[in-house]
Amino acid sequence: MKEQTGYNYAESSAKPNSISERQRDDAIEAGNEILDARLSNVDYLVQKERKRIIKRWAESLPSGAGLNILDVGGRIQPYRIFFESKARNYVAIDLQFEGLIDVLANIEKLPFQSETFDVILCTQVMSYIHDPQAACDEMHRVLVPDGHLIVTAPSFFPEHHDEIWRLLPAAYVHMLKQFRELTIEPEGNSVLGLHRSLNVIFHADIENYRVRWLAERTSIPLINLMAVVLGPLGRSNTRCTANYCVLARK
Ligand SMILES: C[S@@+](CC[C@H](N)C(=O)[O-])C[C@H]1O[C@@H](n2cnc3c(N)ncnc32)[C@H](O)[C@@H]1O
Repeated sequence: MKEQTGYNYAESSAKPNSISERQRDDAIEAGNEILDARLSNVDYLVQKERKRIIKRWAESLPSGAGLNILDVGGRIQPYRIFFESKARNYVAIDLQFEGLIDVLANIEKLPFQSETFDVILCTQVMSYIHDPQAACDEMHRVLVPDGHLIVTAPSFFPEHHDEIWRLLPAAYVHMLKQFRELTIEPEGNSVLGLHRSLNVIFHADIENYRVRWLAERTSIPLINLMAVVLGPLGRSNTRCTANYCVLARK
């Protein structure tokens, strides 16, 4: 793919118009399900924390002139709603030509000029990237000076599809050292992390529709509720936190 200038992705090999309205609606629905995960969802405990943290970070961004925003891995865009009122442009890239994608591209070689975006969102993508340092360097390159990068990724999750990595706070400190400010927030403490892990381990591979239906009405919400009740006992212990949110400023 050619190096792109600004937002002119007309020459891109991607043709967003060939994605049907139905596929786009499905992606919007999938994003809403992630954003407002129910108690019956195995990701409920981390999702509600991620939503709260990203919303707060989005609110803290400058408004006014209008921000150029890049959503990496953005075929699904659960958090777009928090940025839309401040966005002049919202561009989504992904390796999969599906859903809400604008440009087919690899995070390891972004097809944009340097210093193009004010904000980059990269949620639940880093665990798939072959060369995460190259991805961090690319995101740093295309951010304007003073621009913000928001990354979220699992620190614990069972082996899953074609994922390669689990990222701990020290990994971000290492990979994002070219940024001048770094804030790392756990999506809940160890008690929440352990319950979320139990939920995923017990329920991830249920294929039988009836068994899944039952689990969503019994064991999954029960484990989530236990975490909500027992969570305060874990205080600030984050050694078993399941997912992290990171805000980096160039
Ligand atoms: C788990 S989904 C996350 C979707 C969304 N960002 C979210 O928070 O729900 C991971 C996405 O990253 C995309 N992805 C994986 N590797 C990528 C790469 N090297 N460059 C760009 N996107 C990639 C996948 O195609 C997938 O759409």
